[in-house]
Amino acid sequence: MAKVGEIRAGELNAQEFIEEKTKEIASVVRDGLAINALSGGVDSSTVTMLAHKALGSQLKTYFINNGLMREDEPEAVISLFTQLGVEVKMINAQDKFFNALKGITDPEQKREAITQTFYKDVFGRLVQESGAKFLLQGTILTDIDETVAGIKRQHNVFEQLGIDPQEAFGYRIIEPLVQLRKDGVRKVAESLGLPQSVFRRMPFPGPALSARVIGEVTPEKIQTVRLATRIVEEELASSGAFQYMAILHRDRVTGVRQGKRDFGLQIEVRCWESIDARVAHPSRLSFDILDKLAQRMVTEVEGVVSVTYNIAPKPPSTMEVV
Ligand code: XMP
Repeated sequence: MAKVGEIRAGELNAQEFIEEKTKEIASVVRDGLAINALSGGVDSSTVTMLAHKALGSQLKTYFINNGLMREDEPEAVISLFTQLGVEVKMINAQDKFFNALKGITDPEQKREAITQTFYKDVFGRLVQESGAKFLLQGTILTDIDETVAGIKRQHNVFEQLGIDPQEAFGYRIIEPLVQLRKDGVRKVAESLGLPQSVFRRMPFPGPALSARVIGEVTPEKIQTVRLATRIVEEELASSGAFQYMAILHRDRVTGVRQGKRDFGLQIEVRCWESIDARVAHPSRLSFDILDKLAQRMVTEVEGVVSVTYNIAPKPPSTMEVV
């Protein structure tokens, strides 16, 4: 497999990049139909706008509701793109994802279950029903690096692993952002006229909140981590950090509530300083902020008796826990 030529953010001319990629997309899809999944993250939002520019009504954009998103995320993403003139159809697939994740505790198997459900089950069917021949997606260079290096199997990487999407799923995948890293994608997103809430948006992993639950993923655990995520995102919004998150641990620990033993849940908070997610350091948050986080977690998230803050850098840590 040929190595992908990187375009560094500092060397990137976003307008030229947009022109080149819209031409490329249009010449590959020709008079066919392409589909794409929008999650609201900067990568998939950028691909959606690029492809919308290139293909107009030959592009069908879907929001796959996998049940693993943050609070109110599906509605907010769809409403923003509707305002931008892009029609987005929501596909409810929560049960499919939770069924596929049942009983799985190994991180890589979890990613694989999500990959299969997303690309084979949900998208395979959408492709068949719509007659599309192409799937556009926002894979970036960091996804490929980490997958090829065997660090984490990013859910959206195939060809670099020797998997032919045409054979495996029955459609071709177009990846216009594959030469960029996150900082380059943000420049392109801004040039495309996407709002700041998108081009400055904090990264969020494809496997969504399932990457933030250690051990088996269930609807109940997702709900716990969803509440904890809201608290972390509210309290750290002004931190200026690259990314912050709440993680639900598998182990329970002994706590005490109203004089009684409470074998409760543990939430870990992570907050990262980073440029491109390849290396990262924990933010030096003030103890007042940590204290407020802990107070809110134990009072607002049912069952939480322990709150910890990660202080290990990447490497050897990774930013997500799964
Ligand atoms: P890690 O955990 O590998 O994360 O240090 C680096 C950056 O990538 C994001 N991430 C993912 N993004 N699919 C994604 O789309 C994934 O499977 C995935 N895993 C990690 C992570 O949030 C961080 O910004």
